[in-house]
Amino acid sequence: TQVDKGGHKHFMAKEIAEQPSVIGDALRHYLSDDGRDVVLPGADLDFTQFDRMIMVACGTAYYACLTAKYWFEQLAGMPVEVDIASEFRYREPPIPARTGALFVSQSGETADTLAAMRYCEGRADKVLSVVNVPESSIARESDIALPILAGTEIGVASTKAFTCQLTVLLLLALKAAHDRGTRSPEELADTLSNLRGLPATINHALELDPAFKTAARQLAEADNALFLGRGLMYPLALEGALKLKEISYIHAEAYASGELKHGPIALIDKTMPVVVMAPCDALFDKTVSNMQEVMARGGKVMLITDRAGAEAANDGVWTQITLPDVDPILSPILYALPAQLLAYHTAVAKGTDADQPRNLAKSVTVE
Ligand code: G6P
Repeated sequence: TQVDKGGHKHFMAKEIAEQPSVIGDALRHYLSDDGRDVVLPGADLDFTQFDRMIMVACGTAYYACLTAKYWFEQLAGMPVEVDIASEFRYREPPIPARTGALFVSQSGETADTLAAMRYCEGRADKVLSVVNVPESSIARESDIALPILAGTEIGVASTKAFTCQLTVLLLLALKAAHDRGTRSPEELADTLSNLRGLPATINHALELDPAFKTAARQLAEADNALFLGRGLMYPLALEGALKLKEISYIHAEAYASGELKHGPIALIDKTMPVVVMAPCDALFDKTVSNMQEVMARGGKVMLITDRAGAEAANDGVWTQITLPDVDPILSPILYALPAQLLAYHTAVAKGTDADQPRNLAKSVTVE
């Protein structure tokens, strides 16, 4: 089908704006009619059959897996090993009994992910895939293919596919928690109810677009940027740095906030913007002290937080953007937006091609 930009300047902008609607589609597909249970249409899957999961992918899909690790561990008490497909495939890792292997890919054709999946066929108990293209090789060859229903994604830098991957992975973690009895039906119904409200929350966050545009004009002046996050925000920091370098060509790195003093702090000076992704959760105080360490060295902090975080954060922050409040377990899906919007508007400010960045391909089907 022919897809146009629907009045947007770039496909990337259109795909960012589509997120409330496509996440809504994914939720409708995977929730029971009363919204209280996760259902996997056409798939026979019970997480009590696994003692552990391995998750493998490339690029942005890999960061979706890293996020899912936190969810599966916290919600379902399941150990999860996450790996980059190009490493996994040649390492010949042992796969213990009762392991579920899960592969995440927008295109379903990434060569390394496909090879990693083939390695697991006959070794893992079950091979699952989370894909956007339902007729792709990865979808066809997996035991169970779970569609993310993001619709065609044209922008080379993945946006709506990432948040739909996160949505489906969170639903899977909630199903695992249900199957394994690690969360009560009431707790699960609560989270699912909050999840059903997420598309509306994302719509509110999209109204902050002008604030991201202003912040991006500041970022566009920099040659280097650092992204920091803790816990569920660590994979999001990685995604923010990846997006920025992909489409604006600014060198960006991400670190878990706690690693700041083990290296990157040596780079901090007044030319180094540090983007901190931190809703006011149980780890917020620790992140505030990391920010102070940055500011004490002249570093410029761009804080992406929620209302409580904005109130608690100390003076001296360079730029601050306050997102709507959200159930902490859902925060990665909402905080994908700042990662996308900062990179997008920085690319626009610098005049680089957000949809078709140099040297990158939408789907890497050769090694
Ligand atoms: C390329 C794309 C990325 C994508 C990665 C994995 O590098 O530019 O946006 O995350 O491949 O692609 P996949 O189709 O497997 O998700």
